[in-house]
Amino acid sequence: MKIIIVKNSAAGGKKASELFKQAYNDGARVFGLATGSTPITTYECLVKSDIDFSDCISINLDEYVGLKSTDPQSYRYYMEKNLFIAKPFKKSFLPKGDALDAVEEVQRYDKVIEDNPIDLQLLGIGRNGHIGFNEPGSSFKLKTHKVALTDSTIEANARFFENEQDVPKFAYSMGIGSIMKSKSIILEAFGEDKAEAIAKMVKGPLSEACPASVLQEHDNVTVIIDEAAAIKL
Ligand code: GLP
Repeated sequence: MKIIIVKNSAAGGKKASELFKQAYNDGARVFGLATGSTPITTYECLVKSDIDFSDCISINLDEYVGLKSTDPQSYRYYMEKNLFIAKPFKKSFLPKGDALDAVEEVQRYDKVIEDNPIDLQLLGIGRNGHIGFNEPGSSFKLKTHKVALTDSTIEANARFFENEQDVPKFAYSMGIGSIMKSKSIILEAFGEDKAEAIAKMVKGPLSEACPASVLQEHDNVTVIIDEAAAIKL
């Protein structure tokens, strides 16, 4: 793992967007994208950049089960607002939160990922070490699946909702098996509440108890963290 320690999330976003640009110039055309508060500065920099994604495909990590794409809390809405409006892709895929049949939906999404191998995957990390919505205990072999969110994740994501009861209890998530097939990965984390997860990811045992520790096995991972997220390294 290559670890880059930056001053703050603004500097981290700038660095990540530069790596996107470099990947694009090197031929990357399929980008795996993430949501949450962490990648916001990256998207701000990408919006201001001269990268043209109109010949690219984006594939997001996850989506809440039960939310329509027009719901302001959905990850589709987040992506439209923070990136796609300003920088449209040729095609942008996310799991469909309102899909009627969960089994069909995960199969559809796996086919999307198989048909469009990801060149560069952007990741955040949960306080419990989750990536995408692959919670502790998830098999490293999993493909797309429907997952029950842990209390810790529901509590952490409640800040985006009016109250905690509104946070969906299930999500569709790309599996760790699929994430690991990405040719390259950037993981970002900012703030002290991510320090424990970052230390376990980098130094801890390779264990399903910390899903992000699987990245120790990938040969092209760049970790961009601020000083606060690095304090336990
Ligand atoms: C969410 C998302 C993850 C994200 C993580 C951290 O649950 N599913 O993809 O990386 O939690 O979120 P944040 O960046 O807001 O801290």
